[in-house]
Amino acid sequence: MSEESKVVVITGASSGIGEATAKLLAAKGNKLVIAARREKKLQEIVADIEKENGQAVYAVTDVTDLDSVKALAQLALDKFGRIDVWMNNAGLMPHSEFIKGRVEDWNRMIDVNLRGVLYGINAALPAMRDQKAGQFINVASVAAHAVHSGGGVYSATKAGVWMISEALRQEEAAAGSNVRVTVISPGAIATELVDHVTDSDQKKAMDSYYDQFAITPDRIATTIATAIDLPSDTAINEIVVRPSRQG
Ligand SMILES: NC(=O)c1ccc[n+]([C@@H]2O[C@H](COP(=O)([O-])OP(=O)(O)OC[C@H]3O[C@@H](n4cnc5c(N)ncnc54)[C@H](OP(=O)(O)O)[C@@H]3O)[C@@H](O)[C@H]2O)c1
Repeated sequence: MSEESKVVVITGASSGIGEATAKLLAAKGNKLVIAARREKKLQEIVADIEKENGQAVYAVTDVTDLDSVKALAQLALDKFGRIDVWMNNAGLMPHSEFIKGRVEDWNRMIDVNLRGVLYGINAALPAMRDQKAGQFINVASVAAHAVHSGGGVYSATKAGVWMISEALRQEEAAAGSNVRVTVISPGAIATELVDHVTDSDQKKAMDSYYDQFAITPDRIATTIATAIDLPSDTAINEIVVRPSRQG
């Protein structure tokens, strides 16, 4: 059990990093509100958490829809009365070279990875200000710090998450709101992320890279738990965490 039970909202919690973090934080005694588009997966994860005597509810949520994200925040407030942690985690990484012209993929990355994070902040920050406490965990990537061929748009969205997080941190520090901001930048993690790469050349290369290097998402969950469990006068603002063998 963590020292104190917190209400934690996680977007993109139907698989991968979000699912692993929800399960770990629930096992530590926190109250989880999990969100994504696939309802069946969310139902299964809530059932798994309840089987271990944890507490969780879910909301089918599309982070590209502001009303949907606001409804998620309202569910947390209605069910548990507060929002202690909001994890902006939903994201996708369909790499491709610009010449392929995959404009749909570019737009989806901008909508989910960037706009979705802004909508999360918009939905949760007023409640945190009222509470005079809270924490955002914004999931960026090592791709926020370096760019490679095929990853231009993804890196742009993740660098954007980093910039948004730092500005939010400064604003909340200046306001004395006691709202902490943590941006976490993982390296290669074995999740469904690569399944959604639409360009076959990129997918082949990424499958082989992930087979060789990726670590399991529970490693990221453990790191996030550490950032949440610190006393509220102390914030880990940035974490880069990657497989030891990843170059
Ligand atoms: N795996 C890695 O190597 C790695 C490295 C660095 C950063 N990251 C970041 O980590 C985050 C989590 O990804 P993951 O690796 O865990 O991949 P994942 O298993 O594919 O999880 C992505 C999650 O996002 C959700 N999602 C996608 N579009 C959504 C939308 N419009 N509204 C709500 N939820 C949506 C998906 O659920 P539904 O399909 O059910 O909506 C899923 O739960 C992403 O931001 C990713 O960029 C991953």
